[in-house]
Amino acid sequence: MQRSIGFKKINVAIFISGDGSNLKNLIYHSHKKNSKFKIALVISNVQKAKGLNYAIKFKIKNKIVNYSNFKDAEKKILIELKKNKINLICLAGFMKILSKKFIKNFNHNIINIHPSLLPKYKGLNTHQRAMDDKEKYSGCTVHYVSSKLDSGKIILQKKVKILKNDTLKILSNRVLKHEHLLYPKALNKVLSNL
Ligand code: GAR
Repeated sequence: MQRSIGFKKINVAIFISGDGSNLKNLIYHSHKKNSKFKIALVISNVQKAKGLNYAIKFKIKNKIVNYSNFKDAEKKILIELKKNKINLICLAGFMKILSKKFIKNFNHNIINIHPSLLPKYKGLNTHQRAMDDKEKYSGCTVHYVSSKLDSGKIILQKKVKILKNDTLKILSNRVLKHEHLLYPKALNKVLSNL
């Protein structure tokens, strides 16, 4: 794997499956004057992912990877990562689990954002489950990726209060805004340790 030297920016790949609001936000941060990273590749497992439009708009190399066979998919992804000299992967709403082998192959330089206060509410429908359980807080977590779903060392976490009149949509949108603050912060923290 390539490491950045001196002034060179760190090459990051963003993996998406859907809307790509976190991707859009990370693109914005990558364009800031003192940004330490460049988004050199976007990978999507969904051909019609709305987020791909941001990659196209900002002329970022992007690849759609067919996941009907995950071993082939991971092989193709690893080739792309090497070709584009990627140092770090950011999962941003990527709804596939990466294999132990893939993670090891990429030297564990993979981080993810998850919409809950991990280790609580791994998996899907996190905010709904938190509301059903009458939790006081939901939130979001950026963590290193391990082969177990939504596990791995926590980098940063933000608590978001669940308000009395919250609907799922209102709460999800409020947490998403916090995701957009948390992910760039966590990414910078990781980059300064690379
Ligand atoms: C985000 O809320 C992210 O935390 C979540 O998917 C959404 C993607 O939104 N990720 C997971 O649930 C991963 N387990 P986006 O496509 O607008 O960035």
